[in-house]
Amino acid sequence: MIIRLLLFLLYLGASEGSEEEFRLLNDLRQGYDVVERPIANHSQPLTVRLRLILQQLVDVDEKNQVLTLVMWSQYTWNDYKMRWAPEEYGNITTLQIPTGSLWKPDIILFNSANEHFDSSFPVNFVVSHTGEVLHAPPGIIQLSCSLSMTWFPYDEQLCYLKYGSWTYTGSKLDLQIEDSGLTERHKMDLKYYVPNGEFDLLATPAQRISTDFHGDNYVELYFHMHLKRRTLYYGLNWIVPSVLISFTNILGFTMPPECGEKITLQITNLLSVTVFLGMVSEVTPPTSESIPVIAAFFSISMLILGLSIVATLVVINVHFRSPHTHRMTKWTKSIFIEWLPWMLLMSRPEYIFKKPKRNCADEESCSSEKSTKSAIRNKEERIPMAQEEEDDVINQNVKEIRMRPRLLINSDVRNAPFEESLQQIVELLQSLKA
Ligand SMILES: *[C@@H]1O[C@H](CO)[C@@H](O)[C@H](O)[C@H]1NC(C)=O
Ligand SMILES: *[C@@H]1O[C@H](CO)[C@@H](O)[C@H](O)[C@H]1NC(C)=O
Repeated sequence: MIIRLLLFLLYLGASEGSEEEFRLLNDLRQGYDVVERPIANHSQPLTVRLRLILQQLVDVDEKNQVLTLVMWSQYTWNDYKMRWAPEEYGNITTLQIPTGSLWKPDIILFNSANEHFDSSFPVNFVVSHTGEVLHAPPGIIQLSCSLSMTWFPYDEQLCYLKYGSWTYTGSKLDLQIEDSGLTERHKMDLKYYVPNGEFDLLATPAQRISTDFHGDNYVELYFHMHLKRRTLYYGLNWIVPSVLISFTNILGFTMPPECGEKITLQITNLLSVTVFLGMVSEVTPPTSESIPVIAAFFSISMLILGLSIVATLVVINVHFRSPHTHRMTKWTKSIFIEWLPWMLLMSRPEYIFKKPKRNCADEESCSSEKSTKSAIRNKEERIPMAQEEEDDVINQNVKEIRMRPRLLINSDVRNAPFEESLQQIVELLQSLKA
């Protein structure tokens, strides 16, 4: 019984405070219209102050040019009908009023890229007895931002959030930036900001722009974001390997052609560059407006690698030609043995390549005369090499003889008429068999 009485008394005590609030709410609701712009003198604008509290930079989508942020936009204004004396209402100083029960400015993010356009969560208004109304809807917002990918891993991006009233002009709604306690550099509140791993937030300045249009002015707030990409990840995973690949590509030319891995190395390089190019194109938007420098680098690397494979094929082809399979043409000889060594400042022991001279009066007599002359001159210049050259010729002959079928070395067989030689071959074979 006593317990019941106690509970009843407690209930009475609780309902007393609630009664005050009920009375206050009823009184405030008297003569209130949600549609009415809450200003006593209608020829004056209502000042709405906006403060952005950035919590996190979730994603920078370079491909779709969309930035995703988690933040609260905090609006404050003074509603002249939401004023009361706290002592008359049990010292109540603040009230929480659900959304929809009070006038609300129609301020939206103009460059939103969200599918519902305004994605802010509907939260209560907090009203204080002086008439100050606070509305701070949190939201995951997406905004379109033109991201330039030219300097890709070393890029900086400038994005902005454009806020404004969709229907009220500046004469009815005066939008201001709430920047108390903030610096000139950061006009967004970063008290709860969680740093992003990929981007550094360098600055967030803000700007109020009032544009005159058809006799009225329209107020817009721009909150800029200056982002700088952190380059450690891309430096380690992209730049270092690509530099190494380019380096091995150059070193590939120093490999001797006998080493069969020359082409394998270059094809491996080509494939890895293709992989990197694929990684770049995954990140960058498929526009031709600005190509990232790194993509151009990989493309050109690929081109050079392709050409170097062709060059290697030619080199290997030429390298494995021998006197038994090919004959050197006159032009090849003059280009590769006379002109190119001179141009490339090449030298070999005991021999210095000199510029092959073509000193003749008219062009027509030149060709035959000159070649013999230069040949003679070359011979003269090559005197120290004469012995060696002769040796070469002899060696070559010996080699050639060795390469021929043994039967043909036999001079009897070679010089005899056909039938006889055939006979002799048969005899020789028989004797060999025996
Ligand atoms: C309303 O504001 C206008 C412009 O500020 C002023 O001229 C006018 O006297 C004001 N009216 C009242 C009733 O205060
Ligand atoms: C309200 O506050 C005043 C001054 O602090 C105090 O005297 C009074 O008792 C309070 N009233 C209630 C209902 O708490």
